[in-house]
Amino acid sequence: MQIKACLFDLDGVIVDTAKYHFIAWKEMAAGLGFDFTEKENELLKGVSRMRSLDILLEIGKITKTGEEKLRLAEQKNQRYLEYVNQMTEEEILPGVAKFIDDLRSNGVLIALGSASKNAPLIMERIHLAEKFDAIVDGNSVTKAKPDPEVFLKCAELLKVKPHECVVFEDAQAGIEAALNGGMKVIGVGSPENLSLADYLIPGFKKLDYELLSKWYK
Ligand code: BG6
Ligand code: MG
Repeated sequence: MQIKACLFDLDGVIVDTAKYHFIAWKEMAAGLGFDFTEKENELLKGVSRMRSLDILLEIGKITKTGEEKLRLAEQKNQRYLEYVNQMTEEEILPGVAKFIDDLRSNGVLIALGSASKNAPLIMERIHLAEKFDAIVDGNSVTKAKPDPEVFLKCAELLKVKPHECVVFEDAQAGIEAALNGGMKVIGVGSPENLSLADYLIPGFKKLDYELLSKWYK
């Protein structure tokens, strides 16, 4: 198979914003009177903001009205943005920029497929947008991962077929989204939650186009 495009998740793959999401949700849980652990945070990875809030409230066994939930989600986002607004390109995870350059010089198209509504702001802060041929984020999709919509939209914009795409994901919901879309998928991070991926990498430092081509020849 020839790899025509690589589709990257943002949070936890290109930058470690998962830690900022976690801090903001943990603070909110504390304010509501319960503890929220790092293990429970795994359930929120790749999941939309409102769905994340629902999961958090379920963990705390708390019921809120629709209006209160909108207010809480906005409050969480404001706290999260305090961290995002301080981000620079130094926060791009090791090896990511070099790997993307290597892919581009081998003619591979690059897209972002993120659930985050803050993705455009983050991409601007880390100065990476110009390397991407397409950006699809939480503002332009209606169905959240594990639905494949976000990645299928990327393929459509790039004019490539799903089976010609390799997705990079750190979350189970994202891995399932890629598989549901008929794409190849590489899990980034620790093996516990990523068992469905074709391959697992701890990060991008040791990955290049040549190795990727061997994996998917
Ligand atoms: C995903 C993150 O990329 O974006 C989730 O993995 C997050 O943790 C989701 O909830 C939505 O992000 P945002 O920035 O729109 O609140
Ligand atoms: Mg992610």
